[in-house]
Amino acid sequence: MINLQLKDYSINLAKAGEALSHFLAGNQYAKTAVLVDKNTRQHCLPLLGGALGPDCFIIEIPPGEQHKTLQTCQTVWAEMLRGGLDRHSLLINLGGGVIGDLGGFCAATYMRGIDFVQVPTTLLSMADSSIGGKVGVDFQFVKNIIGVFQNPRAVFIDTTFLNTLPLHETRSGFAEIFKHGLIADASLWGRLQKIQDLRQVEWMQFLPPSLAVKKRIVEEDPHEKGIRKALNFGHTIGHAVESFSLQNDRPLLHGEAVALGIVCESFLSYKMAGLPTESLAAITAFAHRFYPPCLFDKEDFPAIMALMKKDKKNKAGHIHCSLIPAIGQVLVDRECGETQIAESLAYYLGSFA
Ligand SMILES: NC(=O)c1ccc[n+]([C@@H]2O[C@H](COP(=O)([O-])OP(=O)(O)OC[C@H]3O[C@@H](n4cnc5c(N)ncnc54)[C@H](O)[C@@H]3O)[C@@H](O)[C@H]2O)c1
Repeated sequence: MINLQLKDYSINLAKAGEALSHFLAGNQYAKTAVLVDKNTRQHCLPLLGGALGPDCFIIEIPPGEQHKTLQTCQTVWAEMLRGGLDRHSLLINLGGGVIGDLGGFCAATYMRGIDFVQVPTTLLSMADSSIGGKVGVDFQFVKNIIGVFQNPRAVFIDTTFLNTLPLHETRSGFAEIFKHGLIADASLWGRLQKIQDLRQVEWMQFLPPSLAVKKRIVEEDPHEKGIRKALNFGHTIGHAVESFSLQNDRPLLHGEAVALGIVCESFLSYKMAGLPTESLAAITAFAHRFYPPCLFDKEDFPAIMALMKKDKKNKAGHIHCSLIPAIGQVLVDRECGETQIAESLAYYLGSFA
């Protein structure tokens, strides 16, 4: 078992059933409930064995980002009330980033806040969303616009859950792992180069160093005033292309859009921050190894740019990115002009030629 200790909670990498049993035995909760979606109820809940005990009740919501809404929160709050959860109760979030974000938000606001733990079941939620304390939901089609910062009591990571995860979901989570290498751990980036097939990876080799990067950054800057913006590398352009793809019925998963954003923002890093051309070429080739081309063309640039201008990370209407001057180093809050961004999108399109 590996244990990463943060200021007020720990991340346990172990068999989740055993680790949860141990946690529950050490904390006398009045009631416990587990939040799942249809898929995690089917594939992940059975792997917890008897850890949850006979009194734990199940709250199920439909899977998918489209259900990360206040309407779904109302269903969850109603179930929490109906099941008699009081202030001394616990909510266990068993699922991907949607369950973790929504369940964390429901727990953080129910009775002004009850305890919750995160049991992430996707690669993305293991590597990224289950730590850092950002919980919330989408509102009026704007992602993560309603939410709070609230840490869980603990995070239980068990890579056995990944055995049933579809390949495209694994690919989505992988982008956050290689982002962590690019912004802060050149040695992790180097070791990732050996991966050829995402179905054959021993994730325990890569999750602890990847989590260590996120842990270090969120502890230094929990409320994203400074260095936490480093985690947005690839996300300024990635988010805009993700929204564009959703509007145009060619939906990309979050991490697929982030991988594209990483290629574009590496190009901006080459142009504006001194990233060597060989590093840009290596990052581009690595992304192409795992991610198919995302289909858009030059005529779509204005629509993508318009979406980027709505990004909540902008300052006074100017677009800001995190850039990497070298692999393993990062600069935050770099203003990028529209011409440069258009050039980076053109670089991405041209890189498949
Ligand atoms: N809070 C943060 O800091 C943070 C960071 C990054 C992303 N996010 C959020 O995370 C969300 C995306 O998370 P995600 O990629 O985990 O998506 P997700 O939660 O929608 O899960 C993806 C799909 O996989 C299924 N699934 C989950 N575990 C499974 C398993 N073990 N076997 C089979 N199927 C399984 C789910 O039911 C779902 O259909 C987005 O809402 C994003 O905004 C939050």
